[in-house]
Amino acid sequence: MKQAQPIGIFDSGVGGTSIWKEIHALLPNEHTIYLADSKNAPYGQKSANEIRTLSIKNTEALIALGCKMIVVACNTATTNAIDLLRKNYDLPIIGIEPAIKPAALQTQSKSIGILATKGTLSSALFHQTSHAFTKDISVIEIVGEGLVPLIEAGQLDSPEMYSLLQKHTAPMLAANVDYIVLGCSHYPYIIPQLKKIVPPHIKIIDSGEAVARQTRKLLKSHNLSNEETNVPKLQFFTNASKDTLQFLLRAYAEIISVEEKDF
Ligand code: DGL
Repeated sequence: MKQAQPIGIFDSGVGGTSIWKEIHALLPNEHTIYLADSKNAPYGQKSANEIRTLSIKNTEALIALGCKMIVVACNTATTNAIDLLRKNYDLPIIGIEPAIKPAALQTQSKSIGILATKGTLSSALFHQTSHAFTKDISVIEIVGEGLVPLIEAGQLDSPEMYSLLQKHTAPMLAANVDYIVLGCSHYPYIIPQLKKIVPPHIKIIDSGEAVARQTRKLLKSHNLSNEETNVPKLQFFTNASKDTLQFLLRAYAEIISVEEKDF
Protein backbone atom coordinates (compact mmCIF):
# COMPACT_ATOMS: atom_id res chain seq x y z
CA MET A 1 0.00 0.00 0.00
CA LYS A 2 1.51 3.27 -1.16
CA GLN A 3 -0.42 5.17 1.52
CA ALA A 4 1.55 3.43 4.26
CA GLN A 5 4.93 4.48 2.81
CA PRO A 6 6.82 7.34 4.46
CA ILE A 7 7.05 10.99 3.46
CA GLY A 8 10.69 11.82 2.66
CA ILE A 9 12.08 15.15 3.81
CA PHE A 10 15.55 16.55 3.21
CA ASP A 11 17.58 19.65 4.00
CA SER A 12 21.21 20.69 3.82
CA GLY A 13 21.29 19.89 7.53
CA VAL A 14 19.28 20.21 10.72
CA GLY A 15 17.18 23.26 9.75
CA GLY A 16 14.46 21.41 7.86
CA THR A 17 13.42 19.78 11.12
CA SER A 18 11.56 23.08 11.69
CA ILE A 19 9.41 22.02 8.71
CA TRP A 20 9.22 18.39 9.88
CA LYS A 21 7.72 19.61 13.19
CA GLU A 22 4.90 21.37 11.33
CA ILE A 23 4.28 18.35 9.10
CA HIS A 24 4.19 15.96 12.04
CA ALA A 25 1.84 18.26 13.97
CA LEU A 26 -0.61 18.42 11.06
CA LEU A 27 -0.21 14.82 9.88
CA PRO A 28 0.50 12.77 13.01
CA ASN A 29 -0.33 9.44 11.30
CA GLU A 30 2.30 9.77 8.61
CA HIS A 31 5.57 7.87 8.70
CA THR A 32 8.50 10.17 7.89
CA ILE A 33 12.15 9.83 6.93
CA TYR A 34 14.33 12.94 7.32
CA LEU A 35 17.77 13.30 5.76
CA ALA A 36 20.12 15.94 7.18
CA ASP A 37 22.91 16.42 4.65
CA SER A 38 25.01 18.18 7.30
CA LYS A 39 28.24 16.86 5.83
CA ASN A 40 27.61 19.18 2.87
CA ALA A 41 26.13 22.15 4.78
CA PRO A 42 25.86 24.99 4.14
CA TYR A 43 24.34 24.81 0.66
CA GLY A 44 23.82 28.57 0.63
CA GLN A 45 27.25 29.48 -0.74
CA LYS A 46 27.44 26.68 -3.33
CA SER A 47 26.86 27.04 -7.06
CA ALA A 48 23.45 26.22 -8.53
CA ASN A 49 24.97 23.13 -10.15
CA GLU A 50 26.37 21.82 -6.88
CA ILE A 51 23.01 22.42 -5.16
CA ARG A 52 21.25 20.48 -7.95
CA THR A 53 23.67 17.55 -7.69
CA LEU A 54 23.18 17.34 -3.91
CA SER A 55 19.40 17.64 -4.25
CA ILE A 56 19.37 14.74 -6.73
CA LYS A 57 21.50 12.64 -4.37
CA ASN A 58 19.14 13.27 -1.44
CA THR A 59 15.99 12.67 -3.50
CA GLU A 60 17.34 9.37 -4.83
CA ALA A 61 18.30 8.26 -1.32
CA LEU A 62 14.74 8.96 -0.11
CA ILE A 63 13.21 7.17 -3.09
CA ALA A 64 15.48 4.17 -2.41
CA LEU A 65 14.13 4.17 1.16
CA GLY A 66 10.60 3.78 -0.23
CA CYS A 67 9.20 7.31 0.18
CA LYS A 68 5.88 8.14 -1.47
CA MET A 69 6.45 11.90 -1.60
CA ILE A 70 9.39 14.28 -1.18
CA VAL A 71 9.44 17.52 0.80
CA VAL A 72 12.43 19.69 -0.02
CA ALA A 73 12.68 21.38 3.38
CA CYS A 74 15.33 23.78 2.16
CA ASN A 75 14.74 27.10 0.40
CA THR A 76 18.14 26.97 -1.26
CA ALA A 77 17.52 23.52 -2.77
CA THR A 78 13.95 24.42 -3.73
CA THR A 79 14.79 27.64 -5.50
CA ASN A 80 17.67 26.06 -7.41
CA ALA A 81 16.59 22.50 -8.06
CA ILE A 82 12.85 21.87 -7.73
CA ASP A 83 12.06 22.18 -11.45
CA LEU A 84 14.76 19.64 -12.24
CA LEU A 85 13.59 17.25 -9.50
CA ARG A 86 9.99 17.44 -10.69
CA LYS A 87 11.12 16.73 -14.24
CA ASN A 88 13.30 13.77 -13.23
CA TYR A 89 11.15 11.93 -10.68
CA ASP A 90 7.64 10.64 -10.92
CA LEU A 91 6.35 11.33 -7.39
CA PRO A 92 4.89 14.44 -5.77
CA ILE A 93 7.62 16.91 -4.73
CA ILE A 94 6.91 19.87 -2.45
CA GLY A 95 9.26 22.77 -1.94
CA ILE A 96 9.66 25.72 0.38
CA GLU A 97 10.05 29.33 -0.65
CA PRO A 98 10.35 32.51 1.42
CA ALA A 99 6.91 33.79 2.53
CA ILE A 100 7.17 37.03 0.56
CA LYS A 101 3.51 37.17 -0.44
CA PRO A 102 1.91 37.43 3.03
CA ALA A 103 4.53 39.96 4.14
CA ALA A 104 4.05 42.04 1.00
CA LEU A 105 0.27 41.99 1.37
CA GLN A 106 0.27 42.96 5.04
CA THR A 107 3.09 45.44 5.44
CA GLN A 108 2.00 48.87 6.67
CA SER A 109 5.37 50.54 6.31
CA LYS A 110 5.69 49.30 2.71
CA SER A 111 9.07 47.91 3.58
CA ILE A 112 9.94 44.27 4.29
CA GLY A 113 13.15 42.44 5.07
CA ILE A 114 14.16 39.02 3.77
CA LEU A 115 16.86 36.98 5.44
CA ALA A 116 17.95 34.02 3.30
CA THR A 117 21.02 32.35 1.83
CA LYS A 118 22.98 33.69 -1.12
CA GLY A 119 21.82 30.65 -3.14
CA THR A 120 18.15 31.51 -2.55
CA LEU A 121 18.42 35.26 -3.07
CA SER A 122 20.33 34.85 -6.33
CA SER A 123 17.99 32.23 -7.81
CA ALA A 124 15.66 32.88 -10.75
CA LEU A 125 12.68 31.41 -8.88
CA PHE A 126 13.15 33.82 -5.96
CA HIS A 127 13.39 36.80 -8.33
CA GLN A 128 10.24 35.74 -10.11
CA THR A 129 8.22 35.45 -6.87
CA SER A 130 9.65 38.61 -5.38
CA HIS A 131 8.97 40.58 -8.54
CA ALA A 132 5.38 39.33 -8.70
CA PHE A 133 4.42 40.49 -5.21
CA THR A 134 6.58 43.45 -4.28
CA LYS A 135 6.11 45.99 -7.05
CA ASP A 136 5.20 48.93 -4.82
CA ILE A 137 7.16 48.10 -1.68
CA SER A 138 10.83 48.09 -0.83
CA VAL A 139 12.48 44.77 -0.13
CA ILE A 140 15.67 44.61 1.89
CA GLU A 141 17.39 41.34 0.96
CA ILE A 142 20.08 40.21 3.37
CA VAL A 143 22.29 37.14 3.06
CA GLY A 144 22.34 35.50 6.49
CA GLU A 145 26.02 34.81 6.22
CA GLY A 146 27.43 32.72 9.05
CA LEU A 147 24.10 31.79 10.62
CA VAL A 148 23.72 28.23 9.26
CA PRO A 149 27.14 26.98 10.47
CA LEU A 150 26.36 28.30 13.97
CA ILE A 151 22.94 26.60 13.98
CA GLU A 152 24.49 23.36 12.67
CA ALA A 153 26.92 23.55 15.58
CA GLY A 154 24.04 24.07 18.02
CA GLN A 155 25.33 27.53 19.01
CA LEU A 156 21.97 29.25 19.00
CA ASP A 157 22.54 31.47 21.98
CA SER A 158 26.21 32.30 21.44
CA PRO A 159 27.69 35.82 21.43
CA GLU A 160 28.64 35.23 17.75
CA MET A 161 24.97 34.58 16.94
CA TYR A 162 23.85 37.84 18.52
CA SER A 163 26.51 39.90 16.78
CA LEU A 164 25.69 38.35 13.38
CA LEU A 165 21.97 38.96 13.89
CA GLN A 166 22.67 42.55 14.88
CA LYS A 167 24.72 43.06 11.73
CA HIS A 168 22.16 41.39 9.43
CA THR A 169 19.11 43.19 10.81
CA ALA A 170 20.66 46.70 10.99
CA PRO A 171 19.92 47.55 7.30
CA MET A 172 16.37 46.27 7.74
CA LEU A 173 15.74 48.42 10.81
CA ALA A 174 17.25 51.42 9.02
CA ALA A 175 14.74 50.85 6.19
CA ASN A 176 11.82 50.76 8.66
CA VAL A 177 10.67 47.21 7.83
CA ASP A 178 7.66 45.87 9.73
CA TYR A 179 8.06 42.28 8.50
CA ILE A 180 11.11 40.04 8.47
CA VAL A 181 10.69 36.98 6.26
CA LEU A 182 12.83 34.02 7.25
CA GLY A 183 13.81 32.50 3.93
CA CYS A 184 15.86 29.59 5.24
CA SER A 185 14.52 26.59 7.13
CA HIS A 186 17.32 26.85 9.68
CA TYR A 187 16.26 30.31 10.84
CA PRO A 188 13.06 29.48 12.80
CA TYR A 189 15.44 28.10 15.43
CA ILE A 190 16.82 31.59 16.08
CA ILE A 191 13.50 33.44 16.36
CA PRO A 192 13.93 33.84 20.17
CA GLN A 193 17.35 35.46 19.59
CA LEU A 194 16.03 37.67 16.78
CA LYS A 195 13.18 38.85 18.99
CA LYS A 196 15.67 40.09 21.55
CA ILE A 197 17.28 42.28 18.90
CA VAL A 198 14.46 43.77 16.81
CA PRO A 199 11.65 46.05 18.11
CA PRO A 200 8.49 44.18 19.14
CA HIS A 201 6.25 45.63 16.41
CA ILE A 202 8.25 43.80 13.74
CA LYS A 203 6.63 40.53 12.71
CA ILE A 204 8.86 37.58 11.95
CA ILE A 205 7.36 35.00 9.59
CA ASP A 206 8.42 31.71 8.06
CA SER A 207 6.91 29.16 5.69
CA GLY A 208 6.71 26.02 7.87
CA GLU A 209 2.95 25.89 8.38
CA ALA A 210 2.24 26.65 4.73
CA VAL A 211 4.47 23.75 3.65
CA ALA A 212 2.68 21.39 6.04
CA ARG A 213 -0.72 22.46 4.67
CA GLN A 214 0.52 21.97 1.12
CA THR A 215 1.81 18.50 2.06
CA ARG A 216 -1.62 17.54 3.40
CA LYS A 217 -3.31 18.91 0.28
CA LEU A 218 -1.05 16.96 -2.10
CA LEU A 219 -1.35 13.75 -0.10
CA LYS A 220 -5.12 14.01 -0.41
CA SER A 221 -5.18 14.91 -4.10
CA HIS A 222 -2.82 12.00 -4.92
CA ASN A 223 -4.75 9.61 -2.69
CA LEU A 224 -1.62 9.05 -0.62
CA SER A 225 -2.83 9.93 2.91
CA ASN A 226 -2.14 7.33 5.56
CA GLU A 227 -5.51 7.06 7.27
CA GLU A 228 -4.53 4.23 9.61
CA THR A 229 -4.35 5.22 13.25
CA ASN A 230 -1.02 3.66 14.00
CA VAL A 231 2.19 4.54 15.74
CA PRO A 232 4.16 6.42 13.10
CA LYS A 233 7.76 5.51 12.36
CA LEU A 234 9.74 8.76 12.56
CA GLN A 235 13.29 8.27 11.33
CA PHE A 236 16.10 10.84 11.12
CA PHE A 237 19.39 10.22 9.38
CA THR A 238 22.41 12.51 9.35
CA ASN A 239 25.71 12.05 7.53
CA ALA A 240 27.54 14.03 10.26
CA SER A 241 27.36 14.02 14.07
CA LYS A 242 23.84 13.52 15.43
CA ASP A 243 24.32 15.85 18.43
CA THR A 244 22.57 18.97 17.11
CA LEU A 245 19.78 16.96 15.50
CA GLN A 246 19.07 15.26 18.82
CA PHE A 247 19.23 18.58 20.65
CA LEU A 248 16.76 20.31 18.33
CA LEU A 249 14.41 17.30 18.46
CA ARG A 250 14.74 16.66 22.20
CA ALA A 251 11.02 17.19 22.76
CA TYR A 252 10.35 14.17 20.49
CA ALA A 253 13.08 11.91 21.92
CA GLU A 254 10.59 9.23 22.99
CA ILE A 255 8.97 8.80 19.59
CA ILE A 256 11.78 9.25 17.05
CA SER A 257 14.99 7.49 16.01
CA VAL A 258 18.12 9.45 15.08
CA GLU A 259 21.01 7.71 13.34
CA GLU A 260 24.30 8.60 11.71
CA LYS A 261 24.52 7.11 8.22
CA ASP A 262 26.22 7.88 4.93
CA PHE A 263 24.03 8.86 1.97
N1 DGL B 1 18.17 25.30 5.27
C1 DGL B 1 18.49 25.76 4.00
C2 DGL B 1 17.52 26.74 3.43
O1 DGL B 1 16.37 26.69 3.76
C3 DGL B 1 19.88 25.91 3.55
C4 DGL B 1 20.87 26.54 4.44
C5 DGL B 1 22.25 26.29 3.93
O2 DGL B 1 22.63 25.13 3.87
O3 DGL B 1 22.92 27.25 3.56
O4 DGL B 1 17.88 27.56 2.62
